[in-house]
Amino acid sequence: MTTPTSPVNRLRPRRSCLAVPGSNPRFLEKAQGLPADQVFLDLEDACAPLAKEGARHTIVDALNNGDWTGKTRVVRVNDWTTHWTYRDVITVVEGAGQNLDCIMLPKVQDAQQVVALDLLLTQIEKTMGFEVGKIGIEAQIENAKGLVNVDAIAGASPRLETIIFGPADFMASINMKSLVVGMQPPGYPADAYHYILMRILMAARTHDLQAIDGPFLQIRDVDAYREVAGRAAALGFDGKWVLHPGQVDAANEVFSPSQEDYDHAEMILDAYDWCTSEAGGKKGSAMLGDEMIDEASRKMALVIAGKGRAAGM
Ligand code: GLV
Ligand code: MG
Repeated sequence: MTTPTSPVNRLRPRRSCLAVPGSNPRFLEKAQGLPADQVFLDLEDACAPLAKEGARHTIVDALNNGDWTGKTRVVRVNDWTTHWTYRDVITVVEGAGQNLDCIMLPKVQDAQQVVALDLLLTQIEKTMGFEVGKIGIEAQIENAKGLVNVDAIAGASPRLETIIFGPADFMASINMKSLVVGMQPPGYPADAYHYILMRILMAARTHDLQAIDGPFLQIRDVDAYREVAGRAAALGFDGKWVLHPGQVDAANEVFSPSQEDYDHAEMILDAYDWCTSEAGGKKGSAMLGDEMIDEASRKMALVIAGKGRAAGM
């Protein structure tokens, strides 16, 4: 397997991850002008089987000749149970590897599937003279087997940058009695996704990876999108997929701290720095108004301040 990619790569902003069908040049063009942190050009479910071959070349062209400034550039290939995966990876990475940040692998079921992609990427990088380890991997968890194996999956390759929840395929795979992706299934009085999201989040954080929530298909209902995204953000997820331009601003907002929280976090950091300094008496804790702060408060504040700084607050 590869040597580790830099930690900087792993912390790319991913509040909004825009899905773009790889077979649609008009959408590929439009996506370049949207303020999404990440785009992923899709060869999997948004591409009809007969369109996949052509879409590989359309994607290579869009990556090489489009203007993706400021965006993390990802291509979702087909999963290893199909016959498309290896040609997806070879065509896209040989053709546009210099202009590509990550490959997204859907329906990951075990660590070996990530290892197989890692090995293939290493061979292509060596053949093409690219830096080995340059291309990252995003792993989608979309069925029960993937969730049960998520800890091993998250530790399977130093190329991994994110673990992504794929609610639509997941709901189908466990026979959930609902047709509205991401919404609570009728008849269950609590949050049906809590366990899944937490399991993914714990595996991701154990390996210093980002955790990303998947799509919400009622694309005209931005308020419902905000609600679902807000649940994942509250738990600690880093971002969520967007399927429509109308969801982009909502995702960027929901996964950024509020101005009030950001300002508060910066005040905690300043106050803690002062109290631990020579001039502040080298104390381990201090009062900030009515709030006692200590090293753990500093860590919590760093998370919020870090997200705010990354969002340019
Ligand atoms: C995404 O791929 C999903 O299945 O939700
Ligand atoms: Mg899926």
